[in-house]
Amino acid sequence: MSVALGEVVVTAHGIQKWFGPLHVLRGVDLEVREHETVGIIGRSGSGKTTLLRCINFMEEATVGRVKIRDIEVVADPLHSSSRAQQEQIRLLRLHAGMLFQEFNLFPHMTVLGNCIEAPMRVKKVPKAQAIETAEKFLTKVGLIEKRDEYPPRLSGGQKQRVAIARALTMEPDVLLFDEPTSALDPELVGEVIRVMEELAHEGTTMIVVTHEMSFCREAADRVIFIEEGVIVEEGPPEQILDDPHDERTRQFLRRFLSSNSDAIDAAAAAAPAAPALDAVRAANDASQGHG
Ligand SMILES: Nc1ncnc2c1ncn2[C@@H]1O[C@H](COP(=O)(O)OP(=O)(O)OP(=O)(O)O)[C@@H](O)[C@H]1O
Ligand SMILES: [Mg+2]
Repeated sequence: MSVALGEVVVTAHGIQKWFGPLHVLRGVDLEVREHETVGIIGRSGSGKTTLLRCINFMEEATVGRVKIRDIEVVADPLHSSSRAQQEQIRLLRLHAGMLFQEFNLFPHMTVLGNCIEAPMRVKKVPKAQAIETAEKFLTKVGLIEKRDEYPPRLSGGQKQRVAIARALTMEPDVLLFDEPTSALDPELVGEVIRVMEELAHEGTTMIVVTHEMSFCREAADRVIFIEEGVIVEEGPPEQILDDPHDERTRQFLRRFLSSNSDAIDAAAAAAPAAPALDAVRAANDASQGHG
């Protein structure tokens, strides 16, 4: 943590979500303070994405309420929402920028075009000012030289960094990240994580669903472990990752670390196959030469 935490910016209270008979979120309470970075971890299907989507009402919770700054929306999906509530949801979404695995850039617009579209159309920012803001954030993510390029010609890591710049141009109160690096080739993960770490250290308020434990360790003020739609445990990253108190957190981390080290072993075994074979051949050659 580099910036002292401020007042509470995001409150999600009593969030429950049913998909038909499936009780996916079972009463989640979450408060996030200004400048705080919260990492959310948990196994597949535990409800992490659903929670993020409920926070910005891309998905309406079955029960609960969400407040971001001074905008509060109470979930009430059984009644058709009033015009006033729809307006509150629109405002809530403006306060929360969402980043997905897939970058959702407009392919037919340049990088700069992608970054000025929403500020101009939604926030009615004048074009010159929108361009200035977009250039500032493209510089921040290290992509100002790509401003006139089209997204299909960018790498996955570059696309995700543009998506981050685009979200920042709306100057949201909180950024919600849903596994922003999980669709990337491993060698492109680092450049996106670095941008996110920098944002965290500068005090951007962020909620980040991630499997990148190193990001949680390096950049999160707090890590939350979710299982079966409830927050099982939360605390500083060192405590959650190194000294979890709940058996369910321990089990998750044990499995996660062992499957990760399997993957690393497999990659290591695969990568040097050719040199290893060469070494065997060289050894054989040498022994034959001597024999
Ligand atoms: N629109 C939907 N309709 C029905 N079921 C859904 C829907 N969205 C999610 N679910 C179910 O809700 C549960 C939680 O899903 P969610 O995507 O929130 O999990 P997650 O923790 O994000 O998992 P992952 O790590 O795989 O992304 C899963 O059982 C999923 O199948
Ligand atoms: Mg998910």
